[in-house]
Amino acid sequence: MEIGVIGAGHVGLTTAAGLAAIGHQVCCADGPENVASLRRGEIPFFEPYLAEIVGKQLAASRLRFTTAGEAVRLGRALFICVGTPPLENGEADLSEVEQVAQVVAQEATSPRLVIQKSTVPVHTGRWLQQYLKQHGRADCEVASNPEFMREGSALEAFFHPDRIVVGAESPRAVSLLKAIYGPVISGQFTCPVHDTCSPRGAVPFVAMDLASAELVKLASNSFLATKISFINLMADLCEATGADVQRVAEAMGLDPRIGPAFLRPGIGFGGFCLPKDVAAFVKVAEKFGCDFSLLREVEKVNRERVDRFVNRIRIELGGLRARRIAAWGLAFKPNTDDLRNSPALAVVRNLVAEGAKVRAYDPQATERALAELPALQACADPYEAARNAEAILVLTDWDEFQRLDWRRLKECVSHPLVIDGRNVLSHDQLARHGFRYISIGRVSAGQVAAALTSVT
Ligand code: UGA
Repeated sequence: MEIGVIGAGHVGLTTAAGLAAIGHQVCCADGPENVASLRRGEIPFFEPYLAEIVGKQLAASRLRFTTAGEAVRLGRALFICVGTPPLENGEADLSEVEQVAQVVAQEATSPRLVIQKSTVPVHTGRWLQQYLKQHGRADCEVASNPEFMREGSALEAFFHPDRIVVGAESPRAVSLLKAIYGPVISGQFTCPVHDTCSPRGAVPFVAMDLASAELVKLASNSFLATKISFINLMADLCEATGADVQRVAEAMGLDPRIGPAFLRPGIGFGGFCLPKDVAAFVKVAEKFGCDFSLLREVEKVNRERVDRFVNRIRIELGGLRARRIAAWGLAFKPNTDDLRNSPALAVVRNLVAEGAKVRAYDPQATERALAELPALQACADPYEAARNAEAILVLTDWDEFQRLDWRRLKECVSHPLVIDGRNVLSHDQLARHGFRYISIGRVSAGQVAAALTSVT
């Protein structure tokens, strides 16, 4: 099928590459500068496998980069994947969605299915439908198809989603979307990232009305954020009582009604999606007279994580001024170079502001971080960052931090102390190499004794 994808950010580019890989002819549109570099096969951000798949689909002429007008003229189905960043008041900025609506109204040559993939407030689809009607395009139907991609494993999420959610008012639109995603739904195709994907069965295809589909996305991200803030508070309680949050989370997660995912405590959730979507959800609820202040608490707990962690470092080092600190990880999560709302970067920024000397390493995000925080000393690997350090901080849970040579690290540092903000390292392994190890919500035997004394 001829498909237009408007917006070549994380969601748009992954969608375009994925749709091309399952056999569609895809025109992906963005601004002229982006289009020029994408045509050369240059991807403006890091996402595993994306550059390879884009390159392959370009070579096979199933994917091309173009203007919004051309994508609208050529695509029978049009995916809107433009940004909806937060305004000052937390509401989503829909100006780019409106610009796409204008292009559709002007350029569509015959009926189109306009599929909203950007994360938008409830009733945006209804508004879009109304807009097209008022501009003489009653023949264009609007559907919602929220995306649940995760940065760092976006293609895996495209080819093996947990579910495909579709909101539409007509059976025709539902059928068209089912046809578009046919190979993914059936699982009967050769996945281009097969090495990393575990093959699964058929994917649930869930069709509903427009408003419900629009709510699924914000509700899902807000619920995930709630789980994280809950487990972070649990970690505090575990520290106060001498319990181990890992064991608590593990046992809680065995209940299928709770599930094990998103129960990892740490320095908080970041990125472009969770913080923005929680704020947008609160606004949507307020607008419709529903009190979702529960989510205000979720945000508050999350905001406090960075301060709490920095305070812990301050206590351990007896102050921060002129302290030599190694920061491992800057991105908001592993397998990405995205620094937006990164708790890791926030920790580093606070340390630098208080006069600490921070040597930082991140496998992908160091360069971007330097642009934001020039006071940072960027290092080429974790060993270089650890040189002469009084403390090593783990701020992003990159896999490679679990495969380091601790004997070598012991020789690099000036004080063998690791403060793990992501709970990715092993206490036993570090203790064997003579490191003192502090993590989140897991206290050492000495601290348990102190906690018990303070209770009795
Ligand atoms: C999130 C959702 O997980 C996706 O389903 C959704 O499609 C996407 O937003 C979106 O709206 O586009 P993403 O922002 O890529 O995906 O990142 P997550 O994997 O959700 O992680 C968000 C933050 O939570 C990270 O900072 C991560 O370190 C943190 N996190 C995650 C925890 O602190 N604990 C956990 O147990 C899990």
